[in-house]
Amino acid sequence: MKFSVIVIAVAVEFLILPFTECKDVRWKWQAGSTSVNKVSSDLNLGARTGGMVFKDTNTYNTFFLFGGLLHDPISNSQCFANDLWHVEGGGPSEKVLHQGTRNEGSKRGTGQSPVPRMLGASCGIAGGMFMVYGGYGDKGALGDTWIYDFGHEQWSSLEKLHFDMNHNDTSLISPPARSDMAAWCMHDRLVIFGGIGEKSETMRDMWEFDLRTLSWKEMENSVLLRSQIYFNHLTTWPEARNGATTWVKGKNLYLFGGNRVSNHDRKSIRNVGFSSDLYMYNISEGKWRYVHGRRETGRVAKFTFHGQHSRENEPGCRRGGAGIVDTSGNLWLFGGEGADGHLDSVSSVKPPKRLADLWHFDVLKNEWAFKGGFERGNSAGIYNGDKNIYYTGSQPGSRFDTMSVPAGNTILVYGGIGIDADGNEGLLSDFWEIDMHNYVAYFSATYPGTVFNLLFWPFLFVAVICVSFLYSRKFFEKFRNKRDIAYAPLTQE
Ligand SMILES: *[C@@H]1O[C@H](CO)[C@@H](O)[C@H](O)[C@H]1NC(C)=O
Ligand SMILES: *[C@@H]1O[C@H](CO)[C@@H](O)[C@H](O)[C@H]1NC(C)=O
Repeated sequence: MKFSVIVIAVAVEFLILPFTECKDVRWKWQAGSTSVNKVSSDLNLGARTGGMVFKDTNTYNTFFLFGGLLHDPISNSQCFANDLWHVEGGGPSEKVLHQGTRNEGSKRGTGQSPVPRMLGASCGIAGGMFMVYGGYGDKGALGDTWIYDFGHEQWSSLEKLHFDMNHNDTSLISPPARSDMAAWCMHDRLVIFGGIGEKSETMRDMWEFDLRTLSWKEMENSVLLRSQIYFNHLTTWPEARNGATTWVKGKNLYLFGGNRVSNHDRKSIRNVGFSSDLYMYNISEGKWRYVHGRRETGRVAKFTFHGQHSRENEPGCRRGGAGIVDTSGNLWLFGGEGADGHLDSVSSVKPPKRLADLWHFDVLKNEWAFKGGFERGNSAGIYNGDKNIYYTGSQPGSRFDTMSVPAGNTILVYGGIGIDADGNEGLLSDFWEIDMHNYVAYFSATYPGTVFNLLFWPFLFVAVICVSFLYSRKFFEKFRNKRDIAYAPLTQE
């Protein structure tokens, strides 16, 4: 009887095991300073925000980084940058590819380079080229396109490239100047939507840049929408906005939130115009779909079911969040500026809160889950212990316009405007790794296998109970005895 109790205990263990395995998101502070506006000794990228990144798709965890708004340690002030870096996560280590105009003496290439800027759009072809379009610089919104050739180690403007390729420049078109646009980088093209224009107006036009022909084209439906001929036929098209978070999932482009109120006075940017709606654009169809979220602006977060997917959960409205697609094809959202769960975070007089919440959107269930980070906005970062070790206590502080890329099922996060260890706000220089690996592995193993789990584990449980019951009734004993008798003559010889 004792034996059967042990067997049942083991069976229960097996039953519970698939539901209790470690599935937490882990955070690792890898490099950079714990204070804002500091250049750390272990990362030369400096304190920066709004830089343009392009994931090096040939590798697991490297990316290219261009410009942004930088803290200049010499003048102790902020300035726009136009330096180009190759950054490898995991150390991290960094190598400058083009110094930009701040260090004129050591500049490589032809001497031409895009003017310093932040919040432009970038894309590229791994091993071939890096491109940047638009952004915000010393003279306001920009509308120029530049290509960096990795082979020749030099920048060229789109005009110059077309001139060199003997194209007739009269046909060369570019989208109107803007910054903070939604951008999706795919292997053969860059797609942009909206942004904030030269007169601080929010936009809703949509363009694509073909990386093979190096040419811009406005999306057909965007032209129709702008000319308003077929306005009524386009039942769904996101409202004009800037600072939306974006994800590329195959041929589907996702867009979340952003600011929907034109900012003619930059100082009056408040979060009443921030949104928390999720749209998807199907490239093959050329159409937008409304996927999830609240259509009204200025909505606070709903943390109804912690860690679980539910229709009751909603991330707060925001702009400037970071979006990453995991290997299961689901969407992760980290940080931004906007609203946490408190009603006081939506205000026309107070600045938006800086956020450090991590959300997971299950595209099949069409539901959000809060997965980690700080639930409260304006939270100071926690930098525990040695760098490069996963410490459960370490958490990146609240931030927006951070630079982030995926590395498998981890997110590399660098800088942004946010709150440091002492609660001060400024430009961050810290480099983090968010590891969702355990969660995604667990999730993709159980999610399609839910039926398997529901059938297999109870079946095993019942089977083990039956076997142990029969053992306790000495059911198997007669077989054993028979065998003993059958072999007995052999051993005696
Ligand atoms: C380029 O366009 C101009 C008119 O804008 C035309 O005169 C010229 O012949 C064109 N050149 C080529 C090579 O097509
Ligand atoms: C996108 O559009 C194509 C063509 O209509 C369709 O086959 C595909 O299923 C669509 N994808 C999604 C996710 O709706």
